[in-house]
Amino acid sequence: MKEGNRVMLFDTHAHLDDDRFHEDRKQVLEQCKAEGIELILNAASDMKTCHSSIALAEEYDFIYASVGIHPHDAKSMDNKTIDILSGLAANSKVKAIGEIGLDYHYDFSPRDVQKQRFMEQIDLAMQLKLPIIVHDRESHGDIMEIFKKMNVKNMGGVLHSFSGSVEMARECLKLGFYLSISGPITFKNNVKTVEVVREIPLDMLLIETDSPYLTPVPYRGQRNYPGYVRYVAEKIAEIKGIAFDEVAQKTFENGKRLFGI
Ligand code: NI
Repeated sequence: MKEGNRVMLFDTHAHLDDDRFHEDRKQVLEQCKAEGIELILNAASDMKTCHSSIALAEEYDFIYASVGIHPHDAKSMDNKTIDILSGLAANSKVKAIGEIGLDYHYDFSPRDVQKQRFMEQIDLAMQLKLPIIVHDRESHGDIMEIFKKMNVKNMGGVLHSFSGSVEMARECLKLGFYLSISGPITFKNNVKTVEVVREIPLDMLLIETDSPYLTPVPYRGQRNYPGYVRYVAEKIAEIKGIAFDEVAQKTFENGKRLFGI
């Protein structure tokens, strides 16, 4: 997407309400705007960040929000949580339920609790006709099993910071899910995700930073921010042998299509 000769980018997953932006959030967001970051989806991960994501989206035109409980915090959910999320999702700046899913790397919540709360939030998204933002860390098999069980085909969603195989990517595509590519695509030895990017049509890819996490090369180790999403787009362009502008434009349109913006 271009405006004059300015390339427009959509960072489809960031946490700008994170404490690491406490000191300079306003300047960072002004810088994003100046650098062509035209849209940002700020993802929630617990009840506190549901509220702070919405607050940020209400303050800035170019920021949208999601509401949802991350698997790390699945154990904090009770029988009122779904109703609260449902109420928050009525805000017109809320465009998705997320991030939700499974995390078997940290196992901060028991796995059966993670699965149960993931399914409940998928069900909520279906009722509200909102797409889901899925967090999947070392839990590929169970994610696909739940997708099957919940019959998620064509409900709309994205596997954020996709880390699965080409085979899994193809299965997700059949269900109508987008795959979001993040900073680790720029890391040396990330053969698996490079192969995914090569094989999956640009129509089904999104780009994200997951700021302040997952900073791409050449800034790996520093705090991430949405401006660095261009390094992800550049890497995709390089892998696919296409122009950077085409990656920027297509992923921008893809994100708008998925989130109904
Ligand atoms: Ni995230």
